Amino acid sequence: MADFGKFDGSYIAAGEEVGVRKLVDEFYTQMETLTEAEHIRAMHKGDLATIKDKLSLFLVGWLGGPRLYADKYGSISIPQAHQYLVINEVERDTWLLCMTEALKDQNYSDDFKEYLIQQLAIPAERIRHVAKSF
Ligand code: HEM
Repeated sequence: MADFGKFDGSYIAAGEEVGVRKLVDEFYTQMETLTEAEHIRAMHKGDLATIKDKLSLFLVGWLGGPRLYADKYGSISIPQAHQYLVINEVERDTWLLCMTEALKDQNYSDDFKEYLIQQLAIPAERIRHVAKSF
């Protein structure tokens, strides 16, 4: 497996900010399309424009690119930001399913797709652990 995690390797592999925004757009298209994702779509506020921007800018920094989320929205703890939500295994897995489907649509290598979903599963599990579970 390539050294995606080193420096900005993942950010470059993801197509920088343009590529990350494209991925996030497709992620939310999947969330609006997949029947099994109706439940997590409904957890979002009506308009997805802000969350698309926030998730894109967060992922840019998380992938090793510039800290755009912090510049625009301030500091964030990802588990804490989800603490008010009810997130069990099914919500975690559905979120990751939307991302898996969105990745299929990207012009990334199979290695990078696999790497990215494995890496995203780590904060997703941390969120499940910290969020409400009833
Ligand atoms: C585990 C499954 C997850 C679910 C069900 C979930 C759901 C949500 C929901 C409902 C919101 C609020 C959206 C709104 O206000 O309209 C949100 C915000 C957000 N999520 Fe997630 N999320 C999950 C995992 C993740 C992961 C793994 C990441 C990053 C790697 C992430 C990054 C964010 C960011 C950056 C925000 C915006 C927070 C803010 O600025 O207040 N989420 N998420």
